[in-house]
Order: sequence, then C-alpha cells, then structure tokens
Amino acid sequence: MADAEGDYVRDVEGKRYLDFSMGWCVGNLGWKHPRIDAAMRAFDGPTYVHPAYHYEPAEQLAERLLSFAPGRLRKVFRATGGTEAVELALQAAMLVTRRHGLLSLEAAYHGNSIGTHARLPRCHKIAGPFDARAAERAEAVLKTREIAAFVMEPVICNLGGIVPEASFVSRMRDLCRKYGALFVADEVACGFGRSGVLFACEHFDLDPDILCLGKA
Ligand SMILES: Cc1ncc(COP(=O)(O)O)c(C=O)c1O
Repeated sequence: MADAEGDYVRDVEGKRYLDFSMGWCVGNLGWKHPRIDAAMRAFDGPTYVHPAYHYEPAEQLAERLLSFAPGRLRKVFRATGGTEAVELALQAAMLVTRRHGLLSLEAAYHGNSIGTHARLPRCHKIAGPFDARAAERAEAVLKTREIAAFVMEPVICNLGGIVPEASFVSRMRDLCRKYGALFVADEVACGFGRSGVLFACEHFDLDPDILCLGKA
C-alpha cells in the first residue's frame, strides 16, 4: 500500500482499490478526511502525556463521549487500543463482581490478549445462532453466579456482520442483571457510525454496564 484517500487505497504500482473494511473499522470517515487531516497537522500539544497526569483535552474528550454514550455510562477510562479496552473491561468486571468466569459468543473476536481471546480456563462460550435457545444455554452458565462479565459486539462484525435478534440481546441484558454479571458491549469495531447509528447499542436500546471503544 502506498496511499489512501476517501474510500480508496492505492498500491505501490498506482492501482486503486475500494476499501470496504476501512482499515478494519478505523477509517469510518474516509481516509485523508480534510478536517481530520487539518486538525492533526494543527496540533501542537505535548508529544506524550503520562496517563496518571490530568490533561485537559483528555478530560474534554471523556466528557464529550459521556454526553452521547448509551444508557447510564458515567465514567471513562483511557486505554491504548481495542484489545486493552476489552481486557480492562473484563478485569474491572472481575474486580467489581469478585468472580473469575467470563461468557462470550463462540468464535467471537475481542482482541489479541489471552483474556480477550477467550483463552482463560473459566471462559464459557455460547454457540450460535443467537436466539432464544442460545439465551437459555447462556442462562445455564450465568446461573452458577461465577460469571463476572458477558461480552459481545452488539453488531457482530467479526462473525461476518451478524445482527443478532433484538430479543436475544434484551434477554442477555436481563439475565446478566438477574445473575449479577456485567454486560460488556464491545464496540471497538461496530462503534462510531459503522452500523448506521453512532453506537450499535442504539439498535437494541441496550444499556451496557461497560462500553469498549477503539479504532475509529
Ligand atoms: C470487536 C473487536 N474488539 C477488539 C478488537 C481489538 O482492537 P485492537 O486491534 O485495537 O487491539 C478488535 C480488532 O479488530 C475488534 O474487531
């Protein structure tokens, strides 16, 4: 690859390709967007800020995010990327619930760490299709009250663009509440307009306990 502009990427021989994946959901506003490019060029702030320091632009960003975040989300934690966002969400859920089990959708992708890859010993998976019967199978696991968090993409980009049944999403939300697990919505890929609304949670009126963002 040599360059990218708008919806296209160009290779070193000058051939153009329509970039359907947009750098896997990073370039949701198109490559070389003039306003984004201009803002990046105009930036003359610090090269690096240690995460423990208060930094006003980061706090303004946190407030902006909360002003349009779905449901009752009230706190923002900054990470370095999508994997870390999901990993920290799972760790936070373990701390809060004092449990160590995790539940996710079979074959789902949430990042490249051991936790987000569902490779931990107490990681349970729900096989698709994601319907009422899948929710029943999930309930059998949640009932043990060993699950700290259930994590899913509200629109599942990583399983080929699956839009789950609304009844499955709302049932999973209810079951998490009933059995004390946190509902973690991974919008690292489907967030920031990728599914036609700002956050895919909005398609389901989903009120997650933790929302993970990244990429775009
Ligand atoms: C749904 C989802 N979650 C998390 C990640 C991990 O994000 P990152 O590659 O920024 O670590 C990805 C990456 O493709 C993803 O698609």
